[in-house]
Amino acid sequence: MSLERTLSIIKPDAVAKNVIGEIYTRFEKAGLKIVAARMAQLSREEAEGFYAVHRERPFFGALVEFMISGPVMIQVLEGENAIARNRELMGATNPKDAAPGTIRADFADSIDANAVHGSDGADTAKNEIAYFFGA
Ligand code: PPS
Repeated sequence: MSLERTLSIIKPDAVAKNVIGEIYTRFEKAGLKIVAARMAQLSREEAEGFYAVHRERPFFGALVEFMISGPVMIQVLEGENAIARNRELMGATNPKDAAPGTIRADFADSIDANAVHGSDGADTAKNEIAYFFGA
């Protein structure tokens, strides 16, 4: 077990559904502490930079359009095994495959609008936290 930090984003679909509080409650009940947070309207440049690793994938354009379609809530979560714990809470990328009780099963409508993002590893978490919150 190790104390970790991970980057989480509540995406425009979930912000529009007014479920920021419900998602925060899930983080907190799972022992993840919100140690930094800000709401933002991402610019196209910010969204493209954040998802640059996926630039060659066929859904890149749609993903960027979606992420700039409305405000997002960006937070740093801290806790034991925070990276994996947050991914468990999120559920599978496609909500159709997400386990019952996960955030995506409960709040996401489609793979294009899937409610939340979470860092997928230690290096990614470090880079993603720095991207939005600096060192
Ligand atoms: S993951 O979560 O990184 O393992 O999933 P991956 O399949 O590699 O997807 C990377 C991000 O792209 C999003 N995604 C999509 N967006 C739009 N349309 C389609 N078809 C699609 N497939 C995947 C997926 O939600 C990941 O974004 P984040 O923000 O990391 O969840």
